[in-house]
Amino acid sequence: MHMHKLEKVWLIIGVITLIAFLTTVGIQAFASGHAPPSDLTKVDPEKVDETPPFNEPGLKKVGENEYELVMVLQSFGFTPNKVEIPHGSTVKFIVTSKDVVHGFEIAGTRVNMMVTPGHVNSMTYTFEEKGEYLILCNEYCGIGHHMMSAELEVK
Ligand code: CUA
Repeated sequence: MHMHKLEKVWLIIGVITLIAFLTTVGIQAFASGHAPPSDLTKVDPEKVDETPPFNEPGLKKVGENEYELVMVLQSFGFTPNKVEIPHGSTVKFIVTSKDVVHGFEIAGTRVNMMVTPGHVNSMTYTFEEKGEYLILCNEYCGIGHHMMSAELEVK
C-alpha cells in the first residue's frame, strides 16, 4: 500500500509547521535571554538598602568630570529624587528596583533603561548642555506610576 499523494503533502506541511514553530520559540527564548538588564550584576531586592553601592544612594565623584549616580527605584519614587551635576561631566547611572519593574528615562537624552528587581542596571551619559532634566519611570508600575519622577539639574 502506498500513501495517498494528498496525505503526503499534508504530512510535509505538518512537519514544516512544526519546525517553524520550534524555531520561533527557540529564537524567542534566545532573544529574551539577551534582553535587558544591561548588567549581569545581581542584588537581592530585599537587601538593597544594605548592599553596596545601594546602601549609599547619590552622586559620587570618581574622576575628573566623572561621576557615579546610584539610584534606588521603588513604587513610586526615586532615591535620591533631586540631583545636581556639574556641566560637562560624564555620569554612570547605577540603578536597581526594590519591588517591581520600573523604567529609568531621562527626557531629552538617550538614557532609557528597564529597571528590574534583582538586577543592577547601568548606563553612562555625558551632559554637555546645562539645564533641568526630568527622570521618568516609563514602565507602568501601578497606581502612582504617572507621579514617579526625579529631577536632575546640570549646572
Ligand atoms: Cu515606576 Cu512606573
